Amino acid sequence: MTDAAWLRSLRSLSGRAPMFDPAQAPADPVVLFRDWLTDAVDRGVAEPHAMTLATVGRDGLPDARTLILKDFGDAGWAFAGRRSSAKGIQLAAHPVAALSLWWQPLVRAVRVRGGVREATAEESAADLAARTPAARAGIATGDWVLWRVVPERIEFWQGAQDRNHLRLVYRRDGRGWVHRMEDAESASDERETR
Ligand SMILES: Cc1cc2nc3c(=O)[nH]c(=O)nc-3n(C[C@H](O)[C@H](O)[C@H](O)COP(=O)(O)O)c2cc1C
Repeated sequence: MTDAAWLRSLRSLSGRAPMFDPAQAPADPVVLFRDWLTDAVDRGVAEPHAMTLATVGRDGLPDARTLILKDFGDAGWAFAGRRSSAKGIQLAAHPVAALSLWWQPLVRAVRVRGGVREATAEESAADLAARTPAARAGIATGDWVLWRVVPERIEFWQGAQDRNHLRLVYRRDGRGWVHRMEDAESASDERETR
């Protein structure tokens, strides 16, 4: 069997999506994110707060790695790491990022995209202090940073066995948000910005 055939034989979107009615979606994406994360916790998703963080490298190429979500809310989606790490250097040069979470048993994924702000020195120090002694070892206080992605766009995607996938997209609109259902597989943003 070729690798391609082997991969084709593996199941995808094999989870069971909970009921979700986009017409009832809240105005605030923070509320929906909390609902979906709660569903993931309730369904026993392992480490549902693990996420992929994508940044832009000095060479202009995207870079991505797995991190833990530290907080979310009006101020943004928070993550932490070393200032001296690749991501720290990349964020200093290009303070923009995308986050992606996937909750397999629920066939749900969330994407968050926007600018990145560094938290205050106190917030970063508090995050470092909250880590276990082992996780703190060898990290200088000033080298640990809490960052927040301040979303411009948040996508809630729910897959369906019949491929009637749902894609609900929130976009910042002044001080609030607008949301709408979009075609699950086309790229309206990239077309609109061209
Ligand atoms: C489940 C999981 C959680 C992780 N959480 C963090 C984290 O919260 N902060 C962090 O700096 N690295 C975390 N890592 C390690 C990162 O994936 C990465 O290897 C590290 O941050 C260095 O990335 P960089 O060289 O791109 O900066 C985690 C890795 C995994 C697999």
